[in-house]
Amino acid sequence: MKIAVYPGSFDPVTKGHLDIIRRASALVDELVVGVLNNNAKTPLFSAEERVTMIQDVTGDLKNVRVEYFSGLSVDFVRRCHAKFIVRGLRAVTDFEYELQMAQTNRSIDGDIDTIFFTTALNYAYISSSTVKEVAWYGGDITGFVPPEIVDRVYGKIQLLQAEKGSRS
Ligand code: PNS
Repeated sequence: MKIAVYPGSFDPVTKGHLDIIRRASALVDELVVGVLNNNAKTPLFSAEERVTMIQDVTGDLKNVRVEYFSGLSVDFVRRCHAKFIVRGLRAVTDFEYELQMAQTNRSIDGDIDTIFFTTALNYAYISSSTVKEVAWYGGDITGFVPPEIVDRVYGKIQLLQAEKGSRS
């Protein structure tokens, strides 16, 4: 069984992530999408919500499983009995961070390799952070996230804005 893990924050999942999930799942027997649930970052969506959103957009991919994890990616990869980590490279600006992460992971466990997918050109500029920023100011995010995700992002942002408003 060739198993790979695609770890990330996915806050929220974008069209770029989905493109990587599709292409990576075609290469392996099982692809586990691992949603990071570390306390250091304050995400817009809870880990459970992020898992559900990815499940909702990958329902047609029978060899894709979605789970959240805490701690090191490499430990999660081992628990999944996987040998590969999948990551997307959008632009040269991603390279330094991704290289450092891949090398760190390999120094922790030399049996685990990172496979990079170059992001499709039409998604190369999309990030979860820009999706949240555009949505925060009422911009159109339909080009950035799968259709099932659009209203969940606006809904969550509106909740946050209402909370902020009631506090000020
Ligand atoms: O989607 P992101 O935020 O770019 O994903 C980053 C992620 C989750 C892959 C990375 O932060 C990670 O692996 N975090 C878990 C902690 C860890 O394993 N750190 C060592 C690698 S530098």
